[in-house]
Amino acid sequence: MSDSIFRKDGTAQGVAKQRLIESLAKPDQRVIYDPNADKFVAGAGIIKLMGHRFSVWLTKKFAPGFHEHLISRTRFIDDLVQNAAAQGVEQYVILGAGYDLRAHRLNLPPTLEIFEVDQQEVQNRKRSKLPSNVPNLENVKYVSVDFNHQSLKKQLLEAGFDQSKSAIFTLEGVSQYISKEAVNSTLEELAELTKNTSATFYISYVDSQLQTDPAACFGTGYPHPEKKAKTIMNLAAKVGEPWISFYSAEEIKEVLSQYGFSLMEDKTLVDFNSEYFAPIGRKLLDSEILNLEHSVRAERKKLTTTPKLH
Ligand SMILES: C[S@@+](CC[C@H](N)C(=O)[O-])C[C@H]1O[C@@H](n2cnc3c(N)ncnc32)[C@H](O)[C@@H]1O
Repeated sequence: MSDSIFRKDGTAQGVAKQRLIESLAKPDQRVIYDPNADKFVAGAGIIKLMGHRFSVWLTKKFAPGFHEHLISRTRFIDDLVQNAAAQGVEQYVILGAGYDLRAHRLNLPPTLEIFEVDQQEVQNRKRSKLPSNVPNLENVKYVSVDFNHQSLKKQLLEAGFDQSKSAIFTLEGVSQYISKEAVNSTLEELAELTKNTSATFYISYVDSQLQTDPAACFGTGYPHPEKKAKTIMNLAAKVGEPWISFYSAEEIKEVLSQYGFSLMEDKTLVDFNSEYFAPIGRKLLDSEILNLEHSVRAERKKLTTTPKLH
């Protein structure tokens, strides 16, 4: 395995690992289910042997709430995409898809066209490991884009994105790895791509307080928040993908509105704790809550005037 490939899929593997762990829980005890996550995780066999409870306990030793944070982010988007599909959305663009298998594990209508966008190396690796019998394989188009240097619009249009059809876009666990300029230009291109229709956009962002006041991003009594904030950020940096972009709630709202998107929801683990974990008896204590990353849903109505883009 070349060093460059490891560097590009380290964090994608990290998220897939938590989905694998969650999928080992009993059906009535899990928040998401990803039966093929194991294909994308080094050491999946050992994790399966350890089982759900022990693996969650081990992750808690690294940082309480870390597993639940990543899993609930995924669940929020699962619900969002399924609701949009039920309401008839025609296209789904997964930005920075990594080893996300939403296209194959959710019950989505065969008429929904799905575009997966990521760096070419990561996509090649994903396609080489994806089982050939997963559902919905024929509805996915792979679009290689480096957000920092390439045009999303051009590549998506070439892949068959239809500007007259409605669309949902999700950018899960990616904004912290790319520059703010790249986030802006991605939004600008989304605004252009959807100028004749309506669009839903999901973005997760890391709270800028993580740098200025880390304790504010954790629940009351969370052990050593400053140290944990550093440990979590170091984990990404160690696999060659450091966090470089952070936002405040006001800033993300402003950035979205600049491109015609209205912020509808902004949630963190404290919200997901009561929505997803409490009902199945897995409610976290305040001292296990990390709120460092936010999940945002934004909507954009069909434009009647041209937006002022930079
Ligand atoms: C933490 S992973 C999240 C993957 C996936 N969204 C998930 O939640 O499982 C971050 C993803 O962003 C992608 N990424 C990072 N920088 C990128 C860039 N400049 N252009 C395109 N994709 C990028 C990585 O390849 C990786 O798949």
